[in-house]
Amino acid sequence: MEPNYETGENVKDISSKSSTVEKSLVKMVNIHKWFGKVHALKGVDFQVGYSEIVGLVGDNGAGKSTLIKVLSGVHIPDEGEIYFEGKKVNITSPAYARKLGIETVYQEQALAPHMSISRNIFMGREPSLSFGFINRKKMNEESMRSLESLGLRLSSPDLPIAVLSGGQRQGVAIARALHFKAKLVVLDEPTIALSVKESQEVLVFIKRLKEEGISVIFITHNLHHVFPVADRFVVLTRGEKTADVKKGEMSIDELTELIVSGRSPGGEN
Ligand SMILES: Nc1ncnc2c1ncn2[C@@H]1O[C@H](COP(=O)(O)OP(=O)(O)O)[C@@H](O)[C@H]1O
Ligand SMILES: [Mg+2]
Repeated sequence: MEPNYETGENVKDISSKSSTVEKSLVKMVNIHKWFGKVHALKGVDFQVGYSEIVGLVGDNGAGKSTLIKVLSGVHIPDEGEIYFEGKKVNITSPAYARKLGIETVYQEQALAPHMSISRNIFMGREPSLSFGFINRKKMNEESMRSLESLGLRLSSPDLPIAVLSGGQRQGVAIARALHFKAKLVVLDEPTIALSVKESQEVLVFIKRLKEEGISVIFITHNLHHVFPVADRFVVLTRGEKTADVKKGEMSIDELTELIVSGRSPGGEN
């Protein structure tokens, strides 16, 4: 990935590797969100490190999507602070989140199935020639490059999304993030509608993002889908964080038990 020294995008920040300075790419502190009488997030602290894959897990309705919608500018928190690369930010719109380098692939967000792969990668951010014409050649070349760097080989950027498998579609959505030089990719239930084999493909794409130095938040209510790739697991239970553990600190069975029982390890919940 090309560093852009004007915007600072992908310029390696050596200071971030030092232990004395900010070690988190993202730090959300005491986040509260209400929907009418529903207290969806109850003072959640959540961090993502550099080149870290975080599995955000918990039962349906736990607040996972709400938390990442706060991070990606869809919802404004009622309370709490967000730091990105050590600086306090007010993420007031999805466009601003993208500008910071946060790319979110939503559970409910479909690609446009009848449009081509390259149109889907560039949707809304097409490179233009003079007179406002879209630069299709550039779009096609850059799409294929992003897909290849994910290890996804597709025969043509002109193929409609509709002919791709579920795993390949996730790959296209992830390639979009890669192309626009995201620092953080958020995937909300990326494996929910996929077969076991397709889910495996998605895990390969996620590992590639990490190798590119990109951090990932992988949301799922199925721990088995994220356990093989995540560096850390955060469990949400009815709007509260009930566990935040590094891989190796808890077995998949212990984590599953935590999610199912809805209890914190101390048992007071
Ligand atoms: N836009 C919304 N309006 C009202 N309630 C919502 C909205 N989004 C989420 N909620 C509620 O907030 C809680 C958390 O939902 P959500 O974040 O979608 O959970 P998860 O993604 O973990 O399944 C649920 O009780 C849900 O019904
Ligand atoms: Mg959700």
